Amino acid sequence: MSPNIVLVAGSSQLDSQSAKVARYLAGRLESLALCGWAQVIDLGTTPLPLWPAPDTENVWPEQRELLREADALVVIAPEWHGMACPALKNFFLYAGLRELGHKPALPVGVSAGLGGAYPLAELRASSYKNSRIAYLPEQLLIRRVECMFNDGPPHDEDDRRLRERADWALRMLCRYAEALRGVRGLIDALDPDYANGM
Ligand SMILES: Cc1cc2nc3c(=O)[nH]c(=O)nc-3n(C[C@H](O)[C@H](O)[C@H](O)COP(=O)(O)O)c2cc1C
Repeated sequence: MSPNIVLVAGSSQLDSQSAKVARYLAGRLESLALCGWAQVIDLGTTPLPLWPAPDTENVWPEQRELLREADALVVIAPEWHGMACPALKNFFLYAGLRELGHKPALPVGVSAGLGGAYPLAELRASSYKNSRIAYLPEQLLIRRVECMFNDGPPHDEDDRRLRERADWALRMLCRYAEALRGVRGLIDALDPDYANGM
C-alpha cells in the first residue's frame, strides 16, 4: 500500500512561500503516484493557538487525525531571523508521539535569500526528543524561494535542478515510509516508562 503523507507548511503567514512549496511537493507526490494521499497542513491558514491552550487535547482535531493516519511527513521550515519560525516550534508542542512517532520526515528549509539551513539544524537538534519523529539523512533547501516551484516551466537552471532533486528526495521519503511502517508495528512506542526521550 502506498504511504500517506502530511506536508506541514511551518509559516504562520497567510499565503506564505512555505505553503506554496508544500502544495508543489504534494502535487509531485501525486503526479509521480508515490503516495496514497498527500495532504497539506498550513500553519498560516489553520493556525494553532500558542501552547498551552485551555483545552489542549481537543484543539485541532482534524489535523491531529490526519497526522495520526500519516505514514511520513514533509516538514517545511521558513528561516526567520536565522531560526525556525515560532508556529513550527509551537506545532511540536501539540504533535507528539502518537502523531509523529517513528515516522520518517523530510526537512525542507525555505529562504527568500540564500539562507534556510539554520532552521533545519534547529529542528534536527530539538524537535525529535519526545515526538520521535525520524528525520531523513537528506534535506531540501529552497533558496530564492520566490523564483522556485512556481506554476509553469522552471524559472531558471537552479529551479530545474531543484525540481529534479525534490522528486528524488520524495522518492526516498516514500521508500523510508514503506520500510518504517513495519518497524512501528514492532516497537512498543507507547511504553509509559519511556514516554519521553532522554
Ligand atoms: C520575521 C521574518 C524574518 C526573516 N528572517 C530571515 C532570515 O533570517 N533568513 C532568510 O533567509 N530569510 C528570512 N526571512 C525571509 C523568509 O525566508 C521569506 O519570508 C520566505 O518567503 C519564507 O517565509 P514564508 O514561508 O513565511 O513566506 C524572514 C522573514 C520574516 C517574515
